[in-house]
Amino acid sequence: MNITPHTRPIGLIGCPIEHSLSPKLHNAIYQKYGIDCVYLAFKTEKEKLEEVINAFKTLSFAGFNVTVPHKQSVLPFLDDLDKEAAVIGAVNTVKIENGRLKGFNTDGWGFIESLKNRGYNVSGMDVLVLGAGGSARSICAYLAKEGASSIYVLNRTESNAEELVAHIRKNYSGIFINTVQRTDVKLIMPGIIINTTSVGMWPDTSDSPLVNYSFSPNQLVVDIIYNPLQTKFLKDAKDVGCKIVNGLDMLVGQAVKAIEIWTGMAVDYD
Ligand code: ATR
Repeated sequence: MNITPHTRPIGLIGCPIEHSLSPKLHNAIYQKYGIDCVYLAFKTEKEKLEEVINAFKTLSFAGFNVTVPHKQSVLPFLDDLDKEAAVIGAVNTVKIENGRLKGFNTDGWGFIESLKNRGYNVSGMDVLVLGAGGSARSICAYLAKEGASSIYVLNRTESNAEELVAHIRKNYSGIFINTVQRTDVKLIMPGIIINTTSVGMWPDTSDSPLVNYSFSPNQLVVDIIYNPLQTKFLKDAKDVGCKIVNGLDMLVGQAVKAIEIWTGMAVDYD
């Protein structure tokens, strides 16, 4: 990389941070597009959060990414919050401009954009979301914003699904969103199924979040897991002829959207 005195740093804060693929991913994109930035990961304990954020401001960072466990605890330090990030209640991307911090959540946003880039539009589609954690919340907010026709949420702990459904309903009037029980899932025929749970992730690769389910070949089946790249869930779907998308779309999508926010540059999702 050609690092000069003009090169703008961009940070990543989280704890742990050692496993993160983001520095590799971001710096490769900056190099490819000639973006004069450098991306560095900083392991940050909760007690040091404010100090680290202030240091980023002082050192003229263009912004930073936020990962576990700070996606919510960073909120009090922000001056401004994007609407969807406010609904989601969590931030993974912060832009620093004129010393002010604005928070965004690009997890669901980049994911939906990445699907669009493949020609898969969620608008008008019936979507089944597996899981009701942070990733599901981010994805559901953007499914609602993009005008999915209906959203069904299936989760191990039903109360978590109910809470997510109520939250999205409250924030996006007119959207049809409901929980669905495992026994009733065969009664709906979603055009898109998205796994947001960790079921099937390495090392438990023989697990699937949807067992004894008959996929239909015209369904788009998406997993946000990228280790392995083809989960059992995706393999089952592919075996009956479904179109499948693996977890790299979410990983890359959230990074691309963050770069667009920091630099104003359009980056090719491919
Ligand atoms: P993330 O931020 O990646 O979404 P999370 O907020 O911890 O992570 O959410 C994990 C999701 O995966 C939850 O929906 C969780 O279900 P519960 O609400 O019942 O905890 C789901 N999940 C995790 N392990 C699971 C398992 N073994 N079987 C079924 N669902 C599981």
